[in-house]
Amino acid sequence: MSEELMARIHELLGRYPAGKKKSALLPVLHAVQDAHDNWLSPELMAKVAGILEIKPVEVYEVVTFYTMFNRKPVAKYMFEFCRTACCNLRGGEDLLDYTCRKLGVRQGEITPDGMFGVVGVECLGACGYGPALQLGDNYYENLSEEKIDTLIEDCKQGKINLY
Ligand code: FES
Repeated sequence: MSEELMARIHELLGRYPAGKKKSALLPVLHAVQDAHDNWLSPELMAKVAGILEIKPVEVYEVVTFYTMFNRKPVAKYMFEFCRTACCNLRGGEDLLDYTCRKLGVRQGEITPDGMFGVVGVECLGACGYGPALQLGDNYYENLSEEKIDTLIEDCKQGKINLY
């Protein structure tokens, strides 16, 4: 953990009452993941547990519950497709498959160069604008094969700001 990251963690802890460090678990995990190439190793989870004075399994339970936490290295550009009902009714699953075929990966895999990955996630809260995907902090909605093609090309050309 860098000095900068520890300062950020202490700032987050300061938002909660004394003796309630565990309450900061989600924001702390986000901060730690953001500082470590967008994934959380078992060692990092153990360090978070130590900082928050909780058991490592309590961190692991949270990390395994939420799809926004990654337990293995991820691609630079992770296409996170909503796989929930509203998006699926509008072709979300087909677009996920299309993207996998186009990138030559299966769901959950990343390309050999580490640039692209495709995963299915639960509802992104953009149900009225599906099919939807999340890429970094950005949402892309009302997707089509053409929009996916453009998005992949924009990523290759470095035109996409993830965060
Ligand atoms: S169902 Fe896809 S964003 Fe909610």
